Amino acid sequence: MAEKVLEGQVALVTGGSSGIGAAVSKALGAAGAKVVVNYSRSVKGAQEVVEEIKAGGGEAIPVQADVSQEDQVLAMFQQTYDAYETIDILVNNAGLQKDSSFVDMTLEQWNKVIGVNLTGQFLCAREAVKEFIRRGVVPERSIAAGKIICMSSVHEIIPWAGHCNYAASKGGVMLLMKSMAQELAPYKIRINSIGPGAIKTPINRPAWETPEAEQELLKLIPYKRVGEPEDIGKAAVWLASDRSDYVQGVTLFVDGGMTLYPEFASGG
Ligand code: BGC
Repeated sequence: MAEKVLEGQVALVTGGSSGIGAAVSKALGAAGAKVVVNYSRSVKGAQEVVEEIKAGGGEAIPVQADVSQEDQVLAMFQQTYDAYETIDILVNNAGLQKDSSFVDMTLEQWNKVIGVNLTGQFLCAREAVKEFIRRGVVPERSIAAGKIICMSSVHEIIPWAGHCNYAASKGGVMLLMKSMAQELAPYKIRINSIGPGAIKTPINRPAWETPEAEQELLKLIPYKRVGEPEDIGKAAVWLASDRSDYVQGVTLFVDGGMTLYPEFASGG
């Protein structure tokens, strides 16, 4: 049975209906948080996550919103407050890929990825920070006035041909996160990122679903294992809890060593 290190806290996980977001929602729920499971289109996925959290004795609700749309973000936060009064933890997880060679990339593909992955993180973080500042620290719940975890990627530092929009969005998340962390630390608001490597989720299914593809992928992972969504869930619980209270403005790469320039293990 998981330790309830987040007992009584309210967590909002954007894009919580599948992949990493679903695993993070379940891990936070198992750690005692009440979880608002945001989804954009997959109501079924969100309901399944909510049911699983409830089956484990936790509390959760699904809330629809496209995080790139300001009015929908405001409505989602209002629904959060209607249900649970406040927010303690925001996991800015919603993200997507619209891959294309650079020269063929459409403005629509560019705007969609920047809109969800970067603007969406800004909009949700701004609303959460307003509430953290208004409410301040509640010592029974946490030493901090609030925590934000930005879901970044190894591609906040690893350039990625064929994915310029995605890499630009994650590079943007890195300095958004660090600048917010610097500005908001005096309010006792902690802001950090998780940088997942290759994790088995729908976003990258072709990269791991056949044995041949998985072998190719493992060349980029010194630890020789493709990650599971639960690997990210565990990291999120730690970053959201007071156990990481002195951690501010960093990216925790959870990537089996993907950021360690694996080609140099035998070259250079
Ligand atoms: C991407 C995945 C990719 C992984 C490692 C993630 O941020 O969404 O598609 O497999 O980075 O390259």
